[in-house]
Amino acid sequence: MMNTAEPLIEIENLRVQFTQKGQKAFALRGIDISFYKDEIHGLVGESGSGKTVTAMSIMGLLSKPAAKLLSGSIRYEGKELLSLSEDELRRYRGNKIAMVFQEPAKYLNPAFTVGEQIREVVRLHMGLNRTQADARAVELLDLVGLGEDGRVLGAYPHELSSGMKQRAMIAIAISCDPDFLIADEPTTSLDVTLQLQILRLLKRLKNMKRMGMLFISHDLSVIKEIADRVSVIYAGKIVESASMARLFWHPMHPYTRLLLMSIPDARRRGKRLAAIAGQVLDAREDPQGCVFAPRCPMAKERCFRESPKLIAHEQGHMSACHFAEEAWNL
Ligand SMILES: Nc1ncnc2c1ncn2[C@@H]1O[C@H](COP(=O)(O)OP(=O)(O)OP(=O)(O)O)[C@@H](O)[C@H]1O
Ligand SMILES: [Mg+2]
Repeated sequence: MMNTAEPLIEIENLRVQFTQKGQKAFALRGIDISFYKDEIHGLVGESGSGKTVTAMSIMGLLSKPAAKLLSGSIRYEGKELLSLSEDELRRYRGNKIAMVFQEPAKYLNPAFTVGEQIREVVRLHMGLNRTQADARAVELLDLVGLGEDGRVLGAYPHELSSGMKQRAMIAIAISCDPDFLIADEPTTSLDVTLQLQILRLLKRLKNMKRMGMLFISHDLSVIKEIADRVSVIYAGKIVESASMARLFWHPMHPYTRLLLMSIPDARRRGKRLAAIAGQVLDAREDPQGCVFAPRCPMAKERCFRESPKLIAHEQGHMSACHFAEEAWNL
């Protein structure tokens, strides 16, 4: 599937550096990625690859002064978000762009009931009065499948199971009808059955509201269940981006090929191939060449010298590898 419409959100050459105790960490090394309305975009990468930092950058929630923006642009319907004031940003957050955070426990306030937390958000952001906010809270809980149990509205977060907590987080995130929803590992802490239920819920909400969605996971087999398009992130760089079908059937980047080989496959009766050899690039390093070269079985001299650009091939398939077009036998 190729999307010819204008992107809803367009990120270009985003570079973010953290300084902690005098140590520099290159979290994002030039991210290029576009998101469209009515499309679920999966972002997959190992721990520490920069998935959450990408999401937090879009939300304007990077922790300052530890995080420093070295370069880049994040445009929402053509408008530069990185130059907005904190006040202007707040208007985008919630109303236009919302997020389900990686650690729900950190973002649900233990001192308030679920109902109170939803009412607070919709009163602040949508200017609803008390009666309207009450009705909206009931409607939202219904939407995320928590409507039947009348106790949820008056329950405190600790009284909810982890699946219910995740649903409550989703209700809060979509409470102001955002155009774009970011879900950061929303199912990682859940067992397989609950995981599938949450994926189905997110898909249903996206179809109903025609939202764009960024779905983050370290697990390609989860992304496969939900995403229309997928981008692969490695050490703070997007190395490949394509429709789900193209990525699975015609991966171009050696890292993606190795990732695909390491997910369990029904045809191989769930056998998992060995994990990718070598270690992820240290965030403190700033190599001149390709970030994957030190770990890449196909790397040549040029890969250590010159950083490959993310180049568009057919059907919106993008890959950042000098030798992407070569037929490899990985
Ligand atoms: N507040 C921070 N201070 C210092 N370094 C940070 C901070 N937040 C993130 N980083 C660094 O930025 C890099 C990217 O981190 P990020 O949290 O985006 O990874 P991730 O892909 O979301 O990983 P995970 O799958 O574990 O959630 C890592 O090297 C991390 O150590
Ligand atoms: Mg993360």
